[in-house]
Amino acid sequence: MKLDKSMKIAFIGGGAMGEAMIKCMLIKKLAVPQSMVISDVSPARRDWLGREYRVTTLADNCIAAENADLVVLAVKPFNLPQIMADIKALSSEQLVISVVAGAKLSTLSEGLGHNAVVRAMPNTPAQIGEAMTVWTATPETGQRQKELAQTVLGALGKEIYVADEKYLDMATGLSGSGPGYVFLFIESLIDAGVHIGLPRDIAQRMVIQTVYGSVCTVEKTGTHPAELKNSVTSPGGTTADGLFQLEKGAFRSIIIEAVSAAYRKSQGL
Ligand SMILES: NC(=O)c1ccc[n+]([C@@H]2O[C@H](COP(=O)([O-])OP(=O)(O)OC[C@H]3O[C@@H](n4cnc5c(N)ncnc54)[C@H](OP(=O)(O)O)[C@@H]3O)[C@@H](O)[C@H]2O)c1
Repeated sequence: MKLDKSMKIAFIGGGAMGEAMIKCMLIKKLAVPQSMVISDVSPARRDWLGREYRVTTLADNCIAAENADLVVLAVKPFNLPQIMADIKALSSEQLVISVVAGAKLSTLSEGLGHNAVVRAMPNTPAQIGEAMTVWTATPETGQRQKELAQTVLGALGKEIYVADEKYLDMATGLSGSGPGYVFLFIESLIDAGVHIGLPRDIAQRMVIQTVYGSVCTVEKTGTHPAELKNSVTSPGGTTADGLFQLEKGAFRSIIIEAVSAAYRKSQGL
């Protein structure tokens, strides 16, 4: 779906995620700065966003949301009750997209007194347009509103719609927290390179391209990762020795434990 450039979009919260969304939408030419309004409590953030993206900035959430076709909630969970009280007078045609971690559709609909609500869980690569976003919507959200949400969230990278909200908490533990796990893995590989004697900058370049190349191979060939792993593991070879140590250290089960712990935490948010 193409976004009507005259469509007014309000962002409540112009922090890391709000900025990433604004940036992606402008880069992908889904919106023009004149159609965007950002409301944030921080004068420094308002100044920066206004100068950097030439968007209108406000300190009043209610005025920002007024008459917006799309209202994006991008604040921390503990700020949500205040925000919902601020922008309570929404009209039925307005669509709300919330990226607030753990905020359930029922909480949002009841808190806002509004039915057309999308709940989305993006992740930090949104900052470079490479996010994985999982989203769902209330049953009252219309087809065109869902298409609008899909277009906006698609600007951040890849998006997956799920009909059942229970997958949102799972997405929080897997793809939401996922960049943290992957960054730790990358850091560990670089440290391992240094440990065996490689200069850090060389180790870093080797690791980044190895991880990137491996991701691209899984994506482009469509081959199962286990099959790809087997294909680099020659009998009695170097990779077999390395993999044995990872399995001995319970690599697979510790990752399952990590994702399960993050999932449990997200259920309690
Ligand atoms: N960052 C990510 O990669 C990511 C990924 C998935 C989901 N999320 C979710 O997205 C939401 C926003 O995260 P974030 O990383 O963008 O947080 P953030 O950088 O802290 O941004 C939130 C912004 O909202 C402002 N704010 C606080 N209270 C406000 C109010 N009453 N009215 C208007 N603005 C207000 C904050 O100002 P102050 O800093 O001055 O309080 C801050 O500038 C969170 O719920 C988070 O869970 C983020």
